[in-house]
Amino acid sequence: MANHLPAIVIDNGTGYTKLGYAGNTGPQYIIPSSIAIKETSKVGDQASRRLARGIDDLDFFIGDECIDLNGYSIKYPIRHGIVEDWDLMERFWEQCIFKYLRAEPEDHYFLLTEPPLNTPENREYTAEIMFESFNVPGLYIAVQAVLALVASWSATNGVQSLTGIVVDSGDGVTHVIPVADGYVIGSCIKHIPIAGRDITYFIQSLLREREFNIPPEQSLETAKAIKEKFCYICPDIAKEFDKFDKNPSKCVKKYSGVNHITKQPFDVDVGFERFLGPEIFFNPEIANPDFSTSISDIVDNCIQNCPIDVRRPLYKNIVLSGGSTMFKDFDKRLERDIKRLCNARQKLSTQLSQGNITPSQMNVKVVSHSMQRYAVWFGGSILASTNEFYTTSHTKQKYEEYGPSICRHNPVFGALI
Ligand SMILES: Nc1ncnc2c1ncn2[C@@H]1O[C@H](COP(=O)(O)OP(=O)(O)OP(=O)(O)O)[C@@H](O)[C@H]1O
Ligand SMILES: [Mg+2]
Repeated sequence: MANHLPAIVIDNGTGYTKLGYAGNTGPQYIIPSSIAIKETSKVGDQASRRLARGIDDLDFFIGDECIDLNGYSIKYPIRHGIVEDWDLMERFWEQCIFKYLRAEPEDHYFLLTEPPLNTPENREYTAEIMFESFNVPGLYIAVQAVLALVASWSATNGVQSLTGIVVDSGDGVTHVIPVADGYVIGSCIKHIPIAGRDITYFIQSLLREREFNIPPEQSLETAKAIKEKFCYICPDIAKEFDKFDKNPSKCVKKYSGVNHITKQPFDVDVGFERFLGPEIFFNPEIANPDFSTSISDIVDNCIQNCPIDVRRPLYKNIVLSGGSTMFKDFDKRLERDIKRLCNARQKLSTQLSQGNITPSQMNVKVVSHSMQRYAVWFGGSILASTNEFYTTSHTKQKYEEYGPSICRHNPVFGALI
């Protein structure tokens, strides 16, 4: 490792891409995973764009620079965490590396991340782009959930377990992913159709009925800012409504924004939205009548579906990851709810066996830590700064010898466990 430059770690999410150098505690850049390409140039399907290589090809922007560009169309190459347009993804990576990190890809090993249940073919495409277009010397594609577990080691008093259940909630989707000894139990993964974007929409709809100060074209970004700044998770909504009614001056907050066009400041009173917004994780029916299972039930159910010998270790290590788990007291509520479910189940089995069996109490622990917002990136940064990363990664030499198929599989970091 001593004679390597630090590895580059890129976590491509549906909403945001986090990029930076291994060994750092946070990503250097967090940019929207969007790309703006010239509208006049071939915006056809993937194939026709691919043929049309030329000078137009260099004329594109990524991330925050995509906004407010005339004559460009904005595309999102990643959908539900999985790359959908490889041509655009290649260009996106190109700017990540050259324009943002200002790195020579030939000088750095790369750690990229993938969502659960990514296909081996997608790993091959990634390898082709990395080794052939960018000429990287080494590549490792890590599973996001495993990296989130690694990131949680910062909060587990030196215990470095790769067995745990990861609740990863970003912008577009929430996954519940059980991992045993570094391997994802694929058949037990659960998806929840509620994540950051849904909470933002819900808050936007609540504000729309009440607050008329917000400029309509800024209503989404205002809702998002309010969500990130003021929302929290309460133990009991009925009591929380009461608390607000009794003491509104303490509970109601003021959000101040500026109208982009008139430059006039505007104020918004933020009331019940503060706890109702993220409550949709626990009582989804308040926003979406088609879905009514609470996140706590889903996590509990997911663990119950796993092989019996990993259930106890999973309950003991429920790890949070991603921006939408940042609401204050998310961990407390989840832990309390799951404990209740376990205790009820324990009571029932004691009852059903007429007192002959008394299962020992389930130890339920939800792990929350300071790096949770970028847990996947941070876990990648830790792994990619170990010596083992360099021996485990796929190298350019091996790629040339055997072809992209070597990247279909990325070995688990054995010695770290
Ligand atoms: N402090 C905060 N409180 C609540 N939500 C937050 C906070 N900070 C960021 N978010 C939300 O987190 C979401 C982005 O999270 P993240 O970066 O983990 O998503 P992603 O990895 O791009 O998406 P995905 O995991 O769905 O592919 C956004 O909806 C954002 O509004
Ligand atoms: Mg993510």
